[in-house]
Amino acid sequence: MFIHPSILSADFVNLESELSSISSADAFHVDVMDNHFVPNLTFGPQMVGRLQEVAKRELDVHLMISDVDRWGPGYAELGVASVTFHIEASNNPVELARKIRKIGSRAAVAIKPGTDVSAIEELLVEVDMVLVMTVEPGFGGQKLIPETVAKVSQVRSSLLAKGLELAVQVDGGVTEDNISDLAKAGANTFVAGSSVFRAVDRNAQIDKLRALAKGHHHG
Ligand code: DX5
Ligand code: ZN
Repeated sequence: MFIHPSILSADFVNLESELSSISSADAFHVDVMDNHFVPNLTFGPQMVGRLQEVAKRELDVHLMISDVDRWGPGYAELGVASVTFHIEASNNPVELARKIRKIGSRAAVAIKPGTDVSAIEELLVEVDMVLVMTVEPGFGGQKLIPETVAKVSQVRSSLLAKGLELAVQVDGGVTEDNISDLAKAGANTFVAGSSVFRAVDRNAQIDKLRALAKGHHHG
């Protein structure tokens, strides 16, 4: 059970001290948005490269960008631990996943709430992780869409049926109220932005979320 705080909820002007306030994290989740795939803009490779230099945890880079076939491999080249791309943004996801892995990062595929699990079925053998978006991507602080919990179960069942032991990540609206249900459904990697950053003691909140997730882990 891994907790990946999303730095989207951090103070962008003081990122280094913000990172030190979440040292209990298993990895840092970095949301790259291009104002095209999603209606919001964050940062690009220059910022991610600098974060990679200073961060004391692995970076989990979530690309919410169009034309990810063109721009995605460049993020792997920065040395980040994993690169997640959206199936909705890729014309050649198999080739993209292979490129990311060949460069040396783990590859992950994400699906938006409206995208059916069948869209990634054939890609499961090519990636290290599946990200099931539990809100519409673009903004932190939204409420989890309840129907997405069933998609987590669907992904986990599909993986089990194929004998694959991939990580299943959830992202969006994850809180202490729903994390155990998500874990029960088969998620093992949890992105949490606002629920971590709004806490007075962020590290205590990360530890609490992890403990709640572990409490509902079967096997
Ligand atoms: C949303 C981003 C998330 C976001 C999660 O598009 O992908 O990573 O930061 O924030 P919370 O946990 O506040 O929903
Ligand atoms: Zn994200």
